[in-house]
Amino acid sequence: MKAIIFDRHGDSDVLGYRDVERPSPGAGEVLVAVRAVSVNHGPDVETRQRGFSMGAVEMPHIGGVDPAGEIAEVGPGVTGWRPGDRVAVYPVIACGVCEFCRDGFPENYCSNSRLYGVQTQGGRAQFAVAPASQLVPLPDNVSYEAAAALGVAYTTTWHGMNQRARLTANDTLLVMGAGGGCGVAAVQLGKLVGARVLAVTGSEWKQQRVRELGADEVFSYRDPDWAGKVRAATGGRGVTAAFDNAGSETLPSSVDCLARAGRLFCSGGTTGFEVMLDVRQLYRNLISLYFYVQGSKADMAELVGFVADGKLDPVVDSRYPLRAAAEADDKLSSQDHFGRIVLTVEGSE
Ligand SMILES: NC(=O)c1ccc[n+]([C@@H]2O[C@H](COP(=O)([O-])OP(=O)(O)OC[C@H]3O[C@@H](n4cnc5c(N)ncnc54)[C@H](OP(=O)(O)O)[C@@H]3O)[C@@H](O)[C@H]2O)c1
Ligand SMILES: [Zn+2]
Repeated sequence: MKAIIFDRHGDSDVLGYRDVERPSPGAGEVLVAVRAVSVNHGPDVETRQRGFSMGAVEMPHIGGVDPAGEIAEVGPGVTGWRPGDRVAVYPVIACGVCEFCRDGFPENYCSNSRLYGVQTQGGRAQFAVAPASQLVPLPDNVSYEAAAALGVAYTTTWHGMNQRARLTANDTLLVMGAGGGCGVAAVQLGKLVGARVLAVTGSEWKQQRVRELGADEVFSYRDPDWAGKVRAATGGRGVTAAFDNAGSETLPSSVDCLARAGRLFCSGGTTGFEVMLDVRQLYRNLISLYFYVQGSKADMAELVGFVADGKLDPVVDSRYPLRAAAEADDKLSSQDHFGRIVLTVEGSE
């Protein structure tokens, strides 16, 4: 089979499109004929560049954390799945034995969790082995491309919005970086919940796209007074909730935009990871800051349900054939995209 594979860390030119042996599913595993897999910063780009912050990467390595496709083979002991079933791989592999797993927390709380496609071989290939426990069933009307788009950015953002900040239709939500994978997800999911959405993005063309997605007001973070304008759009009260994965450059101002008892949720720091906050401002205003990593399998399954019900249509910026994975990685790094970037895999590649 063909796979995108690298033997050493580096720029996207370390990625080779090569023939490798088709893997066989072991006990409790299935073999998935991959049809789509999305491109992600940490798990794909950073892992290839220097290793993600999760220990050494097994070389040679096939990345790809969120493949979707159909089951080609079922390994020994697997029940409930059959060849031909349409599935997506939920990427967080929980240990099942740590205190969080034992106490019934979602998979993303597991203290020994492994990420599929980072600490295992992944889905940038015609076929990929995955534990049957990671599979999410896909109804016929959910495309493989949509499912792959959901796996990381949408699932993580939905977890933060729904399970952590508990957004409701009564909220006014600030979405920082509304043009990126998580930002677009936050705009769409915020509107799905029924909140008023004030979005902040960079370029003119992204502002237009964010408006088309349903954001109620759109601002640019290139405007030095964007925070003042967000506050003005709430009649001076501030937003009741904010999503900010942009980090150092924006997070303190996003906190400034919060109303009394406002909540901010964050799972990334695109412009930098260190921020300075005035704790008096936080406690005097009863501010809550929520952090999280990934989402749960139940979050992902819920999103698949939204797509099946026609409530959510994940935004795919561009599609590349598997062989062009290097180009797709570079496109993500260029920040010249709106929504998700997806690799599509043809059986005959
Ligand atoms: N912890 C987790 O589980 C998890 C999961 C998914 C993602 N993440 C992290 O979340 C972040 C976003 O991921 P993504 O997939 O959405 O990436 P992406 O599609 O490349 O988006 C990057 C974002 O950064 C914004 N941005 C860039 N420069 C900015 C600036 N100067 N000021 C404000 N915003 C700026 C962009 O906004 P515009 O496009 O609007 O200009 C865009 O929203 C990354 O750091 C990623 O590692 C973490
Ligand atoms: Zn665990």
